[in-house]
Amino acid sequence: MHWEHFNPVYSCDKVNHDLLCYSPWFGHRNFAYDYIMNIKPSCVVELGVHYGASFFAFLQAIEDGNLPIELHGIDVWANIVGDCDTASDYNVDIHEAFLETLEGYNKKSAVVLHRKIFDDALSDFADNSIDLLHIDGTHSYEAVLHDYETWLCKLKPDGVILFHDTSETSYDSPYVGSKSSTHAWQEIKVKNDYTLEFDHSYGLGILCLSSVVYEKLKFVELGRYQRTSNRLCMQGFDRLRQNHFKIKDDNTHINFLKEQIDIKKSEIRKYQETIESKDSYVKDLENQASRIKTDYEKTIFGKDEIVAQLQEENSRIKVNYEKTIFGKDEIIALLQEENGRIKTNYEKTIYGKDAFIAQLQEEASNIKTDCEKIIFGKDASIVQLQGEIENFERMVLRNTCKDEGLRNRVKDLENQLENVLKRKKKRFFS
Ligand SMILES: C[S@@+](CC[C@H](N)C(=O)[O-])C[C@H]1O[C@@H](n2cnc3c(N)ncnc32)[C@H](O)[C@@H]1O
Repeated sequence: MHWEHFNPVYSCDKVNHDLLCYSPWFGHRNFAYDYIMNIKPSCVVELGVHYGASFFAFLQAIEDGNLPIELHGIDVWANIVGDCDTASDYNVDIHEAFLETLEGYNKKSAVVLHRKIFDDALSDFADNSIDLLHIDGTHSYEAVLHDYETWLCKLKPDGVILFHDTSETSYDSPYVGSKSSTHAWQEIKVKNDYTLEFDHSYGLGILCLSSVVYEKLKFVELGRYQRTSNRLCMQGFDRLRQNHFKIKDDNTHINFLKEQIDIKKSEIRKYQETIESKDSYVKDLENQASRIKTDYEKTIFGKDEIVAQLQEENSRIKVNYEKTIFGKDEIIALLQEENGRIKTNYEKTIYGKDAFIAQLQEEASNIKTDCEKIIFGKDASIVQLQGEIENFERMVLRNTCKDEGLRNRVKDLENQLENVLKRKKKRFFS
């Protein structure tokens, strides 16, 4: 039989390159791919899927060859089965990562997943139904033998079983010291006629239950897979070496950055201290400001009260003033009216008096004239009378007062004269 060697590109690597390329199963991917492409089994079952390094190698071939193959993956995807090799891996959600990688495949219809204990999945399969079984669960001696013995009946008579972690030299597992998968494989190998194995990538035991597949495989140059694996391993090693030095450089840079961070942190601490002291100063100022504000408000409110009081007083004064002003205006009007009246009366009186005075003056002047006339007349009469008196006196004297009656008569005349003079004087000066 012609065995074709392929050079596959694994879609899964685009999603999860590091985990799948550095997987312990990595070195067997090309053989698994070529096996599917060349043997074309109908039913492939894997016990132990994990991130899917082996699972996606099978699936890649099924997809690339568009082969009518059922691919079953059985795994609890949890740390509940006491598998020392993978226990700590389940701190992250490997099942989720596996499903995410599976999303990159078109041939998902070929896949059947059984998230359960291997023993519980036994009933999902009929006896003599599996073409290829890959046993890669717990790697203790007992677990491998248990899986082998319980699943053997599910294989077709010409079925094939792959066992991972069978290498004596490269095996480095927590089970070393006790019996491991390697010991289980050694036992299985000696009890069966048709076995092959790879030593690289922790070893892969191939148990053909009949000569059918074995006859095809025994002419395949298996060493070529080891060489390819070695080459890929060296490429991986180169990548790791480059990464190692890059990481070293990065670490140096990181340490430099850490030092810078420490310096910056100490600067930040100083800034923080400054900020804190400034904050406290600002707080003091704020308190001071709030105190000033309170005082100011009190003062302002106090002033406002005083202003209000003053305004009230002012308005009272204004009212009083207006009242007073209006009152005064009224009084002034009254006074002005009275004044007008007085003035009128005064003028009347003055004019009346002036007229009266003029009248009196005229009258006085008339009287004076009359008086003067009378006076002059009287004076003339008096002079005349004095002359007569003198004549009488001389007669008296000459006749020695011959007659008393005459003397009386003289007396009367004198009185009359005096009265006339008095009256005239009085009228003249009043
Ligand atoms: C070594 S890993 C599988 C590696 C995988 N084949 C690969 O190519 O990377 C083993 C896986 O088997 C699972 N496992 C171990 N014992 C199991 C059991 N009895 N039932 C179900 N899953 C089991 C673990 O949870 C783990 O995910």
